[in-house]
Amino acid sequence: MSKKIKVAVLISGNGTNLQALIDACIEPNYPAEIVLVISNKPNAKGISRAREAGIKTRIVDHTNYRSREEFDTELSMILSNSKCKLICLAGFMRILSENFVNTWPNTILNIHPSLLPSFPGTKTHERALEAGVKVSGCTLHFVTAKLDAGPIIGQAAVPVLDNDTPKTLANRVLIEEHKLYALGLELVANKILKNKNVNLHREQDTVFKSLLNF
Ligand code: GRF
Repeated sequence: MSKKIKVAVLISGNGTNLQALIDACIEPNYPAEIVLVISNKPNAKGISRAREAGIKTRIVDHTNYRSREEFDTELSMILSNSKCKLICLAGFMRILSENFVNTWPNTILNIHPSLLPSFPGTKTHERALEAGVKVSGCTLHFVTAKLDAGPIIGQAAVPVLDNDTPKTLANRVLIEEHKLYALGLELVANKILKNKNVNLHREQDTVFKSLLNF
């Protein structure tokens, strides 16, 4: 079996992006393996997806901590113990503190359901529809202290249809998130295996300029 980069995945909910990564990791030549899945929500469906795949899970319920910093410190300790080299945020609905993010430079990946820098933050599909954009999509990026503003690894675009609702647009984007995450993680993990700088933004070394679907 080829060498693999150890990855931890952080989730809060359904975990369909997690499932896409689990499925990608099954491929023998895929350069990453998921060693731990952490959820801040005890009932996240993603936890059962991980258990079914035989992956170690941890619940770190943020409501049990007095502050964001305390929660993040615990998270950091668990992640260090897991020996992961990459941390994938997959529908993880907590903002990570600056201290946490700076502890893990060029290590944390996030999938965001818009074409950043448009529509950072929440309610992306509602805002995209309100703005009347004709193209939307998703962005895989490294996480830095500034919300949804880290170096972009890759993007995928989808058309916005006249009769779209936030739900129908979200569903169309989600299908692309799954493909983009699996491809982007493969790229980053391969770069680490080859000892290359993973700061794609600085290298101007974009994976897929854009995956157009229409
Ligand atoms: C995805 O659209 C993700 O980009 C966003 O929340 C959704 C979570 O989906 N942050 P899932 O939990 O991976 O199914």
